[in-house]
Amino acid sequence: MLKNYDILSSKELWMSSVHDQLEDVLNKLQIHVAVEEDFYDSIDHGELVRMLVALLCDQLGIEESVRNEALVAAGLHDIGKLKISENIYGRDKSALHVEEVRYMRMHARLGAEMLRECGYPEGVVSAVYHHHENYDGTGYPDNLSGEQIPYSSRLIHVCDSFAALISDRPYRKAFDMDTAMEMMIEDIKMYDVGIFMGFMKLYNSDRFTTAMDLSKLINSKHRYGETKIG
Ligand SMILES: [Fe+2]
Ligand SMILES: [Fe+2]
Repeated sequence: MLKNYDILSSKELWMSSVHDQLEDVLNKLQIHVAVEEDFYDSIDHGELVRMLVALLCDQLGIEESVRNEALVAAGLHDIGKLKISENIYGRDKSALHVEEVRYMRMHARLGAEMLRECGYPEGVVSAVYHHHENYDGTGYPDNLSGEQIPYSSRLIHVCDSFAALISDRPYRKAFDMDTAMEMMIEDIKMYDVGIFMGFMKLYNSDRFTTAMDLSKLINSKHRYGETKIG
């Protein structure tokens, strides 16, 4: 667990793992994650998105302060799901009902509230809050569009979509990476074009292939074993 540090100024925050950050927030807020698997899935997904955001920031030449903020938010962007894990994930995972989808959409707001309560910087809080906004205004929670959406959220949105498509979901198998890219190109209106172009360039680079090969080794359950949460 992280020490009780001053989140706003600590270098330790930017350096620590998604696992430690998630565990720290859950323990501080005394949130018990009913389904252990959800905790590990959340770490793996958070780490994958954070790695993609890091590569994308390098590709786009993003300055360090924005990059740090985006990386912390990327690692923790779905933390709100863990608060509702018992109610949705704990049950049948094969499909979400309409009312569950609505409920699930609360995860962006819940996650932002959790991080604010733990003293995370407002830039991180708002990046998490808006990570499901679409560039064309069709996303949630606030239907923001274009540059109204925080830049970090726009970065996370592209990487999160890709990460979700190439991962197995309870209701479908993972898509291969080329198919995932094609699907995102079809939905290009949802993304900031400048960021998306950067992602396409990154996708076609050798360092992307190497990083994705390494990411297959991500499996937090094996790495962390016993974890005390809640
Ligand atoms: Fe999300
Ligand atoms: Fe996500």
